[in-house]
This record gives sequence, structure tokens and C-alpha cells, in this order.
Amino acid sequence: MKIAFFDTKNYDTPAFEQFGSENDMHFKFYETKLTEDTASLAKGCDGVCVFVNDTVNAAVIDTLADMGIGIIALRCAGYNNVDLQHAKEKGITVVRVPAYSPYAVAEHTMALLLTSVRRVHKAYIRTRDFNFSLNGLTGFDLHGKTVGVVGTGKIGRIFIDICRGFGMNVIAFDKFPVKDSGIEYVSLDELFERADVISFHCPLTEDTYHMVDAEAIGRMKKGVVLLNTSRGALIDAEALLEGIKARKVGAACLDVYEEEADVFFQDFSGHIIADDILARLISMPNVIVTSHQAFLTEEALSNIAETTVANLAAFSKGEKSGNELEV
Ligand code: NAI
Repeated sequence: MKIAFFDTKNYDTPAFEQFGSENDMHFKFYETKLTEDTASLAKGCDGVCVFVNDTVNAAVIDTLADMGIGIIALRCAGYNNVDLQHAKEKGITVVRVPAYSPYAVAEHTMALLLTSVRRVHKAYIRTRDFNFSLNGLTGFDLHGKTVGVVGTGKIGRIFIDICRGFGMNVIAFDKFPVKDSGIEYVSLDELFERADVISFHCPLTEDTYHMVDAEAIGRMKKGVVLLNTSRGALIDAEALLEGIKARKVGAACLDVYEEEADVFFQDFSGHIIADDILARLISMPNVIVTSHQAFLTEEALSNIAETTVANLAAFSKGEKSGNELEV
């Protein structure tokens, strides 16, 4: 099989080359994202492999279908960037990697929370400049605080276990609660009202788009800490900025951002950032942004490559891998 990879970074290729060569697959790695303008790069290939910020809309799918592409392999779990209905109509199979390391994402979420509430990001910069003052670095104990977890799937449940290890009280909201899980489920409104820390681990859908807006922030406790390692558009970034300026939101840790496709995964140091909301958020002392990094562990990269190659191999044999996305 010949597969065109889009939005490829140097950390992606070693594991794919290893698993690909073991399965007689040939990969063309492109740094550019998949868009209507770049889709033609896949000409002559049997499939494309894409990531979270590639565009897989109807127009792109039409171009891919015209070139005889039979499979779109997502090397990620989320698939909000894919027009699944259109892919189905065009007879293109879409596969994903449903889980590669939920631990990676859950652990990164806790890393962000600890960094924020114990001001490690501030202390790191200070001590590098031999500034050993503690002024302004007062944090708070996580022990005894209430964490609200939105989405109790693979990542959410691991994050819950980690939080329980810290002695936090856990409440959760999920559209499809897990039965007999021992998790205290509450309504989303109640979660917003009771939680000291809120962490999002649900997919981006029509239901969840901007689930944190001005009204939701209005319900939250003063000083609430918001963690988003799921998808940027769960949070209305403008409303978040207002909430921070009003001192309602105590801190925000964002591994994802609703307009991230234009900036994340690229080096813009030395450039003028055009996105005023992102620039203002980053300028805040109580906001930590990582650029969709939560998945990035050696274990996750290896699992992503292994599963993606298995998905492609199954397709080439006319078999199902079980990771096909159905509408
Ligand atoms: P999962 O599918 O195991 O769990 C998602 C949970 O969200 C399910 O329990 C589901 O019932 C729930 N849910 C669905 N609709 C909901 C709604 N309207 N309100 C509340 N809950 C709802 O997914 P997993 O593996 O735990 O991943 C969670 C999210 O994390 C993914 O959707 C993806 O967007 C994000 N992610 C982020 C990564 C990163 O690097 N930052 C890496 C991997 C995933």
C-alpha cells in the first residue's frame, strides 16, 4: 500500500517507518496539512493518513475520491474534522485510533493542574534568573477540593483515578453515564456550580460545542480552575477571556484551543500572532497553554503507529479492523 501522510512532524515518522516496513507499506510524508489545495499530493496513493487539524470536508473527500483513495486513516481518536457522511457516500473507509494512551492525556491534564495551582511555571522562570522570591507563588491544596469531570470515557476515568489519589472529591457529568462505576454523576449545571476544578474529556459534537460559554461561567464558583485537554471549541475562548478578566475564572489550562489549527504545531516565535484572543489568553499569569501536546509520549506514538498500520493492513486485505468509523 502507498499512503500519503499529512501534517507530519519529525516525531511521527520513526514509529511509522518501523511498523510500515514490517508490513510492506510505503509512506510519503508531507509536512503540509491536508486541505482542498493540498489533497492532490495524494495522487497515486491508496490512502491518506491525517491528524487532528487536517481538513477532511466534503470538497477534500471529493478530490480524494476522484483520485481513487479508498481509506482515510486518522492517527488520532477525535474525528470532528471529518465529514463521515460524505466519506460514506463516496465509498471511502474512515478508520481511527480509538485509544493509544489515555494515560498520556490524563497525566498531562494533572501536570497542567499541578503546574497551575502550585505556580511551577512561574517558579521555573524565576529561579533560572536567580530570583528566589516566593511572593505571588501561593497555591492551594488539591486534597479535599471538588473536581468536576465532564466525559467519563477512557481518559476521563483515568483522570478521576488520579484525582482520587490526590484526595479530591470527584463529581462527573456524562451524556451516557457508566453504570455501577462508583462515580457520582450530577447534572452539568450542578457540576459547574459545585466544582473547584473542572476538566473536560468529552468529544466535540453539536451538543458540546461551547458548553463553556458566558452563562456557564456565570454559574461556576469564583476562582474555578478550568482544564481542557479535549477539543478547543468546547470552550468559547472569548467568554473564557472575559471570565478571567472579571476574576471569575481563577486559572485555565488549555492543551487545545478553538482556533488552534492555524497556529498549533508550528513555530511562530518572532512572528506577530494575529489571533488577539489567544495572545491575550497567553499573556495572563493564570493561563497555561500547551499546543495539543497531551498525547505526546513515546508509548502513545508507538501505539498510534501500530494501530494505524494494522487498520491499513486490514483494509488492504478486505477485512475489518474494528476501528472503522460508521455514521
Ligand atoms: P471516550 O470516547 O472514551 O470518552 C468520551 C466520553 O464523553 C464518553 O464517556 C461519552 O459518553 C462522553 N460524552 C459524549 N457526548 C457527551 C456530552 N454531550 N456530554 C458529556 N459527555 C459526553 O474518549 P477518550 O478517549 O476518553 O477521549 C476524550 C476526548 O479527548 C476525545 O474526544 C478527544 O477529543 C480528546 N483527546 C485529546 C488528546 C490531546 O492530545 N489533547 C488526545 C486524545 C484525545
